[in-house]
Amino acid sequence: MMNILVIGSGGREHALAWQCAKNDNVQRIYVAPGNAGSALEPKCQNVVLKSTSSDASEHSAVIEFCQNNAIDMVIVGPEAPLVTGIIDACRDAGIKAWGPTTYCAQLEGSKTFAKEFMAQNNIPTAAYQGFTDATAAKAYIDEQGAPIVIKADGLAAGKGVIVAETIEQAYDAIDDMLADNKFGDAGSRVVIEQFLQGEEASFICMIDGDNILPMATSQDHKRAYEGDTGPNTGGMGAYSPAPVVTQDVHDKVMAQVIQPVVDAMKAAGHPYTGFLYAGLMIDKSGDPYVIEFNCRFGDPETQPILMRLQSSMVDLITQGLAGQLPDAAEWDTRPALGIVIASKGYPETSSKGDVIAGLPELGVDNDDSVKVFHAGTAFSQDGTNIGSQDASYDNNAKEVITNGGRVLCVTALADSILDAQQAALAVTGAISFDGAHYRRDIGHHAITREQS
Ligand code: AMP
Ligand code: GLY
Repeated sequence: MMNILVIGSGGREHALAWQCAKNDNVQRIYVAPGNAGSALEPKCQNVVLKSTSSDASEHSAVIEFCQNNAIDMVIVGPEAPLVTGIIDACRDAGIKAWGPTTYCAQLEGSKTFAKEFMAQNNIPTAAYQGFTDATAAKAYIDEQGAPIVIKADGLAAGKGVIVAETIEQAYDAIDDMLADNKFGDAGSRVVIEQFLQGEEASFICMIDGDNILPMATSQDHKRAYEGDTGPNTGGMGAYSPAPVVTQDVHDKVMAQVIQPVVDAMKAAGHPYTGFLYAGLMIDKSGDPYVIEFNCRFGDPETQPILMRLQSSMVDLITQGLAGQLPDAAEWDTRPALGIVIASKGYPETSSKGDVIAGLPELGVDNDDSVKVFHAGTAFSQDGTNIGSQDASYDNNAKEVITNGGRVLCVTALADSILDAQQAALAVTGAISFDGAHYRRDIGHHAITREQS
């Protein structure tokens, strides 16, 4: 029997833990730190990792926990620990961990690294230039004109990107990042990019150094408000599959984007392992351009994708760790769609401690076709997500409260994207908390296609 450690606290991690729990060979799944949803899943238990050693290195708490709890597999959800080398640290300690090394994670950790990598390997992407100086950046903006895209170089939780419609907005973004330091170190260097037109899609794969296993395709909704308006967020909802990724587009993405990453990383002596997420713009002729690489699964894409995954993620990762990924997984043919419910103020700020009402009975899946994945949630009693560690501790007796910007992702499987949207909306509408907001139009691109 296996013990698994999932690292992270979002909807992605709740979905990963939930999918792993379906595997009969899994005994226990620890989620660090997890959320109220992961605490309530069968076999799952939230843990807070703390190192006992005084000269603790950054990842030593994870390594100690794995050694003390007979962990057979570590699955890392978010980018930050990947970028700082959690996979390297686990491997050095002889612990099996799924994800890219710190070298490969630069594809997400540094926009400049990613852009140079793409240029060197002929991976299609927007033309760009990097700047640290505001005057030079503005001169380049004058030369290029608007619309134009300004990106903080480092990690900024999906919020360090400004799509400027006017030169003035572009100047403001430069002032925020380079002069006022609004994004901290992440924004001390910016990348200025050509504005790409088309429809976006998320293309996520598992890679074992050599073999590529594409996940089902998906589409995220980055803007905060309906009609794709408002500020960029971490993602307000997603569905799978994305009809814009036809077989022809799929073939092009594999040949022009994913395979070159695998080949180049291998040639550099750093084989790519783990999830790789290509955020794509597909133009009118069906040609893909990379908007960004992420070195992890997407959030909220994970939620609808894993609703459809019929293979076991535990088995796939086991094969991946052995360098034996199959080239296809099994999928429910029905589409899935997830709607994110965000807290007051998101994405500029977020709110904590608001009591969530109307959640389907906690820990119980009344209906296999709808699942409420938690993200920024906690239990009111102590706010520490003690979870189901203590069997006598009745989680269901406690209130679930908000604990972050993206709070829940209500995900439904149905015969069409419209039906999945309606099923998710019905459950979403029954959930309430102070300041809750969500988009009613998740899936609109695909629904328009379905209806035409
Ligand atoms: P990123 O964090 O790089 O994925 O950017 C966030 C969002 O900004 C993307 O999902 C796109 O909607 C938009 N975006 C980023 N780069 C471009 C670009 N070059 N052209 C058009 N839209 C972009
Ligand atoms: N949903 C976008 C991301 O995970 O970066």
